[in-house]
Amino acid sequence: MSFTGPSGRTSPRGSVPPRGEGYLLRAGLLLLTALLVTSPARADLDDRIGQSLFERTWVPAPASTASTDGLGPQFDGRACSACHDGAFRSPLKRARIVRLGDADGQPDPVYGRQLNRLSVQGIPVEARLDLEWSQVPAPDLDLVMLKPAIVVTDLAFGPLAPQTGLSLRQAPALSGLGLLEQVPVAAILARADPDDRDGDGVRGRAHWVMEPDGARALGRFGWKASTASVAEQTAKAFLLDLGLSTPAMGPAWGDCTPSQRACMDAPQGGAADAAELNADILALVVRHVEHFPAPARGAEGAEQAHGRILFAAAGCDVCHASSLPLAGGGTIAPFTDLLLHDMGPGLADSVGEGGATGPEWRTAPLWGLGRAVASGAGLLHDGRAATVAEAIAWHDGEAAGARARFAGFSAAERAALLAFLQSL
Ligand code: HEC
Ligand code: HEC
Repeated sequence: MSFTGPSGRTSPRGSVPPRGEGYLLRAGLLLLTALLVTSPARADLDDRIGQSLFERTWVPAPASTASTDGLGPQFDGRACSACHDGAFRSPLKRARIVRLGDADGQPDPVYGRQLNRLSVQGIPVEARLDLEWSQVPAPDLDLVMLKPAIVVTDLAFGPLAPQTGLSLRQAPALSGLGLLEQVPVAAILARADPDDRDGDGVRGRAHWVMEPDGARALGRFGWKASTASVAEQTAKAFLLDLGLSTPAMGPAWGDCTPSQRACMDAPQGGAADAAELNADILALVVRHVEHFPAPARGAEGAEQAHGRILFAAAGCDVCHASSLPLAGGGTIAPFTDLLLHDMGPGLADSVGEGGATGPEWRTAPLWGLGRAVASGAGLLHDGRAATVAEAIAWHDGEAAGARARFAGFSAAERAALLAFLQSL
């Protein structure tokens, strides 16, 4: 099944061929436990098992491998790698999911938190999803902006609740997440300005979220910064995207609700009293994701250097911070402040997520941007923008000033700024 849209903007979702029934995994785990002490070989092995788990095609229950079955019953992908090309944004898969919720973030009473587009045999698929693109004028920039609307048909369990909103999200690149995790909370808070005390029109506020264990933590991950750690985001991905429970998050039936009887009654994976995946498997995937490196920078010539100055002059770096410290010393250049900003009505959805409102989004990291654009991946949370200029044209709300300064640049200045962004 694929989202359809104007040419060049969509492609069929990648389906991953099934592989050998967890043999590799089981063999790997056995080997792992055979290594009694910490050693470089052990780290290397962890890396390889982590990667194979990330790329693994999970299977529905009941399967011969009880410790690794339990996919679904409803889901959006059979593998992490069905949506994520590791450190890079995936252009071919164009992996998008549809979040559901009302303005307060309450899930749809029947369809749950995600409108799943795949299901195991015998369980109905929740709905068919297509995209309809409309043109939006960009008066101060000579370009056409395209905006996607989600068209839902063939709803299997009756209509969505009237208060349920839909939010289209594309799968981001997973580069450098382990580094973003190491930015001290104080350094992030130091950049927040929720009441705009400095009067520059840019606020930026921290997204405090409740962790599964009830603790309050600073949200850093996801397009709305609604998860605090890679571990939490991975458990959430297993649950909502693959329908697999872990000790960190359940239930085994994933995102099914009591109105979806057959789904809740379908065979579940794992042992009766345990999660479908155990803590070791979860930890190995988390470790793998935390080790995706930060993208390598391209060369910076005279034009890029000029562009860097213009990036600051336009005020882009107020949100897209060019330097953040790490807890262990040193700095990184992710070009994000990890804060939420009101980006105006054009980018807004109507789904509350934790404390984030519809128009609020986390500043997208710009490292790896050149690579993302070159690969043809779309930009912004729903992948609507085909070019960097188009992404900037959507900037509104707190970013309206920066956008206007960009629009006021000469053609040569804009080209220099874009060349700089291309080098990230
Ligand atoms: C069906 C597609 C799909 C699958 C399968 C999937 N993801 Fe994702 N992933 C997404 C989308 C979409 C987002 C953005 C979610 C949001 O912001 O609401 C995301 C976000 C993330 C993030 C946060 C990235 C950031 O920059 O903040 C991590 C980490 C992640 N996924 C890891 C995983 C892992 C690990 C797996 C496998 C267990 C997985 N994902 C499976 C689509 C998918
Ligand atoms: C007020 C904060 C703010 C300012 C100022 C700002 N941005 Fe952004 N930027 C964001 C947010 C938030 C997003 C994510 C929006 C979304 O996904 O809907 C974003 C997304 C982007 C993206 C898309 C990245 C991706 O991976 O999809 C690009 C490119 C970008 N900004 C460039 C710029 C440039 C260039 C400037 C200066 C002209 C600028 N931004 C100024 C907050 C800001």
